[in-house]
Amino acid sequence: MKRVDDFRLRLGKQELVPIMIGGMGVDISTAELALEAARLGGVGHISDAMIKTVADRRFDTKFVKDKLKLYKYNVENPDKSAVQFDLGKVAEATKLHVGKTMEAKRGDGMIFINTMEKLTMNAPKETLKVRLTAALDAGIDGITLAAGLHLGSFGLIEDHPRFRDAKLGIIVSSLRALQLFLRKSARTNRLPDYVVVEGPLAGGHLGFGLDWSQYDLATIVAEIAAWLKAEQLDIPLIPAGGIFTGSDAVAYLEHGAAAVQVATRFTVVKECGLPEDVQQEYFKASENDIEVNTISPTGYPMRMLKNSPAIGSGIRPNCEAYGYLLDAGGNCAYVAAYNRELAAHPGARKISVKDKTCLCTHMRNFDCWTCGHYTYRLKDTTRRGADGRYEILTAEHVFRDYQFSTENRILLPGA
Ligand SMILES: Cc1cc2nc3c(=O)[nH]c(=O)nc-3n(C[C@H](O)[C@H](O)[C@H](O)COP(=O)(O)O)c2cc1C
Repeated sequence: MKRVDDFRLRLGKQELVPIMIGGMGVDISTAELALEAARLGGVGHISDAMIKTVADRRFDTKFVKDKLKLYKYNVENPDKSAVQFDLGKVAEATKLHVGKTMEAKRGDGMIFINTMEKLTMNAPKETLKVRLTAALDAGIDGITLAAGLHLGSFGLIEDHPRFRDAKLGIIVSSLRALQLFLRKSARTNRLPDYVVVEGPLAGGHLGFGLDWSQYDLATIVAEIAAWLKAEQLDIPLIPAGGIFTGSDAVAYLEHGAAAVQVATRFTVVKECGLPEDVQQEYFKASENDIEVNTISPTGYPMRMLKNSPAIGSGIRPNCEAYGYLLDAGGNCAYVAAYNRELAAHPGARKISVKDKTCLCTHMRNFDCWTCGHYTYRLKDTTRRGADGRYEILTAEHVFRDYQFSTENRILLPGA
């Protein structure tokens, strides 16, 4: 019976344990978590979502406070188009986060950064270019292009000296999305080094509509693999979404996958950025406590725990401090929904916005509990104390469980 450890992910000259911990935005996949994956010989991700907040937390910088000071005059203004990111500061924050993480790296694994196109930051192209460039400058091993089609992203960095040596990959949820990306990037004469194929059971934003349950990861992976073969393109495929045990992973590896990307099982480890009380909510969840909804202003459906404080909250948008989801015209679907409710309830002390959420504020505060479909199985991966609390695991424990387990077994802590 095969184990994940019987396979290796080959990226260029490097051989890795074929386990990639997926990027989890706004510091859920922390540097500490990514560093553990790299130390154990796999691939870890940090994320550049709300990079200024992350840098302030890690390095005691004042990026967010300084931005708010600059735009404080606009806080009551429903029009957020004046709020701009200082590109120099975005670069500085990215270089700090990436640079310090890379300095701390030990072991034979790699550290990638998850870069979401949907963080449009009031100037989509300019800010994305700075984010990608700064990560390469600071020595990141690779970049995973996420949450978007990224049709122009390779073009934004093609002149960077590391464009051909850094590992560059993209997350897709369909063959069509991959075909579009390859067609639009062909001009740069560079294929992605890997493609993460994310199915409908993943956490975070989904590349599917509310009919997500009609789709199946194995089918999409097989379809993409067959097309790549027919086109004689040799690009490693990395399935993601609902791969809960080592045996789930082996099933994909035996069918030709180069590695697997996993995340949900790492939401309850001590190196993960979620506060422990939130991790207990993840453990406690039953299948009925999880939903896929449309409250993310990005327009993508998102899976989350139904008791997330972010759902129905009518908090005032704080684009002057954050503003990561403002589009090129300075609009965000939450700002519009908030202003609509405000106008409908004049003088109300507190309003509730049901259809959208202020994703920046709530992700920053760990109040939007996004999670994978199998979060309800996390309780079976640990022990419960006499006080009713579930034991938090270590990243090493979960990583090794994926790496060595057979027969769908899950190793409990201390076993
Ligand atoms: C809490 C959480 C946050 C996530 N955030 C992001 C993100 O910021 N960007 C992204 O591309 N994927 C995100 N994902 C998706 C994961 O990187 C990964 O591809 C997916 O969840 C794998 O499926 P699994 O959770 O069933 O193992 C997130 C997943 C979770 C559970």
